[in-house]
Amino acid sequence: MSGQIDMNSAARVSSVFCLVAALAAGQIVHPVGNIFDPQATPAESVYHLSLLVIAVCAAIFLVVGGILTFTIVRFRHRKDDDREPAQVYGSGRIEIAWTVIPILIVLVLTMATARVVIALQNKRAPADALHVTVIGHQWWWEIRYPDLGIVTANEMHVPVSTAAKPALTFLKLQSADVAHSFWVPQLSGKTDLIPNRTNSMWIDPRQQGTFLGNCAEYCGTQHANMLLRVVVESPEDFENWAAAESLNAVSDPNLGAARSTFLSLSCVSCHSVSGTPASGTFGPDLSHLMSRKTLGSGIIPNTPDNLRAWVKDPQAIKRGNLMPNMQLNARELDEVVTYLSSLK
Ligand code: CUA
Repeated sequence: MSGQIDMNSAARVSSVFCLVAALAAGQIVHPVGNIFDPQATPAESVYHLSLLVIAVCAAIFLVVGGILTFTIVRFRHRKDDDREPAQVYGSGRIEIAWTVIPILIVLVLTMATARVVIALQNKRAPADALHVTVIGHQWWWEIRYPDLGIVTANEMHVPVSTAAKPALTFLKLQSADVAHSFWVPQLSGKTDLIPNRTNSMWIDPRQQGTFLGNCAEYCGTQHANMLLRVVVESPEDFENWAAAESLNAVSDPNLGAARSTFLSLSCVSCHSVSGTPASGTFGPDLSHLMSRKTLGSGIIPNTPDNLRAWVKDPQAIKRGNLMPNMQLNARELDEVVTYLSSLK
């Protein structure tokens, strides 16, 4: 129970912190993933479709609610009236009406939905599209840019799409374990990540800033803390980020001892650091850990204190996650955190 409370307050502190940090850096974090404020073509199509569905449902609600209210008031029991109400059984006309009208409504909604689904799914990737592979894990996102040689986690960077310079990002969605679902409400609808299958979707974000998303398919204990960020940048900022991320991890000669300690521990069997023997693939790639804003798939901001707390005992922060408490002694903890902090 107390773990639950800690986690919630950690998440709250984290979102406040991220907002402050982002404002300080002049970058906008769109705080609520609102489907009614679409910022990419797929999300806009879903938004327009949802308006139609809401309008049809509201009309049904008003008609049914109106007739019901009228009936309750008009035919209510009155004090001086003890007569039995007329006993009516069946009406061909009414039954045909309440069978045919709903079928027509469902047909219209199905056709409208199919049109949007087909338009989004059949979109062909232009030659200059950015390709990203997203792999769902319990409980974090592996993000790979196969053409750029980049592997990162939980925070996807993409260029902004403008009328003058459209920039489409095509996503391949896969899973390493169970079913997950990729959902950044302002950019697109949900698409599942399913084991042994590759799904796809695309986005063309029109506004710079950080868009928040999350896993939308129950995938185990920490499903609710499988958070996601899409950082939409100017083409120049994206190029700079991609250039930095595709380099091997920095190897600071002053941190030889710290690096040796890290490489001697079993961290390396789950995590990769490019240019070192650490090549595990079970956990997030750490080559440029310091370029990320959060730790633990968005659960806490990436600050020196939080990094230390996470390495010391990740279970205290995100209970049930697959990184165990490594029982590091004080020296090992210091050295691992020192080394990780150098991975810009
Ligand atoms: Cu992954 Cu829910």
